[in-house]
Amino acid sequence: MSSPPPTPPPTSPTRIGGHYPGASSPSPKVGGTEGGNASGFKVDNPMPHILCEGNNAQPLDIIGATATDKLVLIMVGLPATGKTHTSKRIQRFLEFFHDIPCQIFNVGEYRRKICGINMPASFYDNDNKEGKRQRAEACDVALADLVNYMGLAGVRVGILDATNSTRERREYVKKVIREKKLGVKVMCIESICNDEELLAENIRTVKLNTPDYKDQPPELAMLDFLQRRENYKKHYESVTDLDGPHVIIHDCKKFIINRIRGYLPLKVVHFVMNLHTLPRTFFFTRHGQSEYNTRGKIGGDSGLSPNGMEYARRLGKWAKERVCVVDGKEVPARLWTSTLRRTKETAQFIDHPTIEAKFDDGFQHDWIQMRPMARRNLDELYAGSCDGMTYKEIEDVFPEEFKARQSDKLAYRYPRGESYMDVILRLEPLAHEMERTREPIMIIGHQGILRILYAYFMGLKREDAPYVSIPLNHVLKLNPHAYGCKEERTCLLSKMEMVADGQDEPITSMPVKANMKRVGSKNRIEELLREGGEGQGGEVGASPSWGPDDPVMNAPSC
Ligand code: F6P
Repeated sequence: MSSPPPTPPPTSPTRIGGHYPGASSPSPKVGGTEGGNASGFKVDNPMPHILCEGNNAQPLDIIGATATDKLVLIMVGLPATGKTHTSKRIQRFLEFFHDIPCQIFNVGEYRRKICGINMPASFYDNDNKEGKRQRAEACDVALADLVNYMGLAGVRVGILDATNSTRERREYVKKVIREKKLGVKVMCIESICNDEELLAENIRTVKLNTPDYKDQPPELAMLDFLQRRENYKKHYESVTDLDGPHVIIHDCKKFIINRIRGYLPLKVVHFVMNLHTLPRTFFFTRHGQSEYNTRGKIGGDSGLSPNGMEYARRLGKWAKERVCVVDGKEVPARLWTSTLRRTKETAQFIDHPTIEAKFDDGFQHDWIQMRPMARRNLDELYAGSCDGMTYKEIEDVFPEEFKARQSDKLAYRYPRGESYMDVILRLEPLAHEMERTREPIMIIGHQGILRILYAYFMGLKREDAPYVSIPLNHVLKLNPHAYGCKEERTCLLSKMEMVADGQDEPITSMPVKANMKRVGSKNRIEELLREGGEGQGGEVGASPSWGPDDPVMNAPSC
């Protein structure tokens, strides 16, 4: 990669209405080691992210903020082919990374409301006139809601999540949308699953847990579900050219893409091409305590403290036993770090034996276990002119900046640095990569970065992401699955074993708004946070509000 251009001197002393109200030049004495940028400021981060300046805290990407095109996605596929999973991932991706409002209209949920639960397989047989009528009614109600939703100002994407298994049904849906003259693009996403093992897993883990099979013995439920699927199969018509723009996904491996045009539809296509429904695990950890951490300084590129080294040693052993081994068997696993010293040093005790492994492309080949990949988009949120300062110094030297950050931590951009929104943008390609990957991935990263990745996978709102506690010395294990994400936290080095860590952050890390939303149960997460203990696992689900005493959202860094 070519080196970044020199940072230009500040041009505008005042930024009206933005989050960057004309910072005075930072004192060259504060922060940093030798060296400095073109303006003569001493900064310690060797690779600043050069971003536009001006009255503008918005990231540079265009689709969330300025584009107006609307899109309806019609999901197509037999039951248990991953349509709901795909719909939920698309919704999450668009809302979190692009701030695009997106709503799913799940016809199954409408059907349960209209027709009740526990309907037998015969209800789904097209020869069953009454069943067919009631199912059509559920679809109509869902469709009416979707159309109303798409008519609202500011709304961008609606997803009709149903089997939509005949061409007649799909034509009908499109006709209703067309007649409303909403100027909406429509695209079908068909999911075909011929992999019997995957199908059985989908049915076991997802379908049998729906209200349809509440209190039913699993064997009977499985038989009934398979019969329901057969009933749909009798009349199933795959998507063809006649359906207009579409993507067909075969077993998350083969893709047919036809007539897709436009930025947003292509974004969606690119995203779904990275998806799969197989179980997988992410391990997130911050680097071990750094020299800067001990001095309470932010940013920089310092090495590890003795405590940090100890954490790195423990992590090396833990990774070997817990990341690279699943059910007693060694599995190929990946290791990503940032390009900064503290993450690379934290990775130094992780072994890299070559193992032979079989992959889902059918090939068997050598694999270098946990081969370190240093990724620049994992570098910590760049604090620009404040890099190398303590929070107290920032408050003293740049009181306005300090206040501005507190009032809007997500959008606030450090002078000559980044905002969390900028970080969200640069993490988007990485999230694609994470969605695509099948092997366990351990990410040794930084607080700001891991907050974003955590919030994305755990289903948190983006404005809450900057407040998530990602403590030093912990490994967070995340298991995304079809309808959510399971979490476990393990502390490898307790605070009692450390000398002063300098990480008890001041108010800057705390939310100023009450009533923010997060997912998961507070008590469960409290349990997970017990120092030195192995977490039991929290589950994404409801969204209770959280207040200033919430241990996950507000806990100090360690
Ligand atoms: O303090 C450690 C650190 O990783 C800093 O380098 C970084 O600026 C900060 O955390 C991000 O946290 P916050 O956004 O709460 O300041």
